[in-house]
Amino acid sequence: MEAIQTTSEKTARSVYIHTFGCQMNVNDTDRILQVLEPHGFSPASEPSNASLIILNTCSVREKAENKVLSELGRLAPLKEYNEDLILSVSGCVAQQEGKKLLSKVPYLDLVFGPDNIGQLPELLDRVRGSKERVAETTFFKRKDYEFIEAEPRKDETRVCDFVTIMKGCDKVCSFCIVPFTRGREVSKPGDMVVREVEKLVATGIRDVTLLGQNVNSYGKDKNREVHFAELLRRVDKVEGLERLRFTTSHPSDCTDELVSCFGDLRTLCEFFHLPVQSGSDTVLESMRRPYTVEHYMGRVKALRGQCPDMSLSTDIIVGYPGETEDDHRKTVELLDEVRYDSIFAFKYSPRPGTRAARLEDNVPMDVKNRRLQEILSLQDTITKERRQRYLDQTVEVLFEGPSRASRKNAVNEWQIMGRTRSNLIVNTPVPVGEFWANRWVGKLGRVKVTELKSNSLYGHLV
Ligand code: SAH
Ligand code: F3S
Repeated sequence: MEAIQTTSEKTARSVYIHTFGCQMNVNDTDRILQVLEPHGFSPASEPSNASLIILNTCSVREKAENKVLSELGRLAPLKEYNEDLILSVSGCVAQQEGKKLLSKVPYLDLVFGPDNIGQLPELLDRVRGSKERVAETTFFKRKDYEFIEAEPRKDETRVCDFVTIMKGCDKVCSFCIVPFTRGREVSKPGDMVVREVEKLVATGIRDVTLLGQNVNSYGKDKNREVHFAELLRRVDKVEGLERLRFTTSHPSDCTDELVSCFGDLRTLCEFFHLPVQSGSDTVLESMRRPYTVEHYMGRVKALRGQCPDMSLSTDIIVGYPGETEDDHRKTVELLDEVRYDSIFAFKYSPRPGTRAARLEDNVPMDVKNRRLQEILSLQDTITKERRQRYLDQTVEVLFEGPSRASRKNAVNEWQIMGRTRSNLIVNTPVPVGEFWANRWVGKLGRVKVTELKSNSLYGHLV
């Protein structure tokens, strides 16, 4: 009974959002909260306290839709106890399924796509007013799309945050659902990006990651006054910002101008996530990734030439339709040669409506599993080896707060957690107590690394 009580939280309109998937969705969730706030909504601590529940969904891999359906099933009983509860699905599954979701899920009230976040108050009025069930997933035309200027979270206490600089993707990678669920690329005006960064810095954020499906092509869509490298230069000048990162990039748009920003801009961290997907030109061509392995290696060389200590990471897909043992071996060789600091590797899964989904998904699951394991275990060795370079070195650390271990086990040693410019976690002992830990939040320190842990570094302040 307790779980379904009528609380003042509920009567006062509150929203519970379950966010699935990537940083884009986390960012969209913040925008949803921002749009709803002037309409009297505050965040609910749990679904049973909410008058509006939103599942902000992802469909980039796996059977994401099934996950959403089963989560909806778990939430359904809440509707029986509270008939005013509005149950809604947003994000990529919403965009992909639209109205069909309403027919599949009879107790679902509202479906809206990523482009329709700004319309949410009107959509809710329609649901509430006429008890209509609503699906709104119309994309705006590129020229009509307006960004919602992001305001920092009310309770911002973090040190690192993300700023969306564009939406959508104009690339045509055969396996990818994003162009279907997020629409055409639109770049956020440069002034708005800079203002958003400034506002975050004013709340104590020191480390900003610029976010987009393919940030390197920022500004290409509308002949904007600013292109990506220029945008980096502008953001780099924001006073109080210590670290600047960006994700995700495409090898075809990784220009010399962009490469030259590394080592040149004070805040730009020596860290680059550059998805390669495969080490085989045949597979890359079939994936409609318009570069060769040679071109990619050229970019890696240019980046390391500009900045020898550059940390690199990548995305790999194994078992793409038609991938042979020879193709797979080429991916293994590429990993061996590039020596990434970390990778994300995925088994290919067909996404509805994509070009690759028309190809036969002909690499058997056990082969996909084996190839994935080979790749992950090789990378594990390389990651450990790459990490060796930090041992006995002094690194610059931006501290974020008491480490998780400290919060759990605050008796013997208090540690503060921070990150290197290459985004590795570093834990450092401080005198016992929140006071000492909090003193360091948002500050830079120099740490001599004395131990390499499995997922982090450990060392002492110097
Ligand atoms: N540019 C985007 C890429 C989106 S998807 C970004 O912001 O990250 C992230 C990664 O998921 C891709 O780089 C790819 O490696 C993987 N991926 C995308 N579609 C996939 C599919 N159908 N099967 C397996 N992996 C996929
Ligand atoms: Fe997807 Fe390729 Fe764009 S992976 S997000 S279509 S760059």
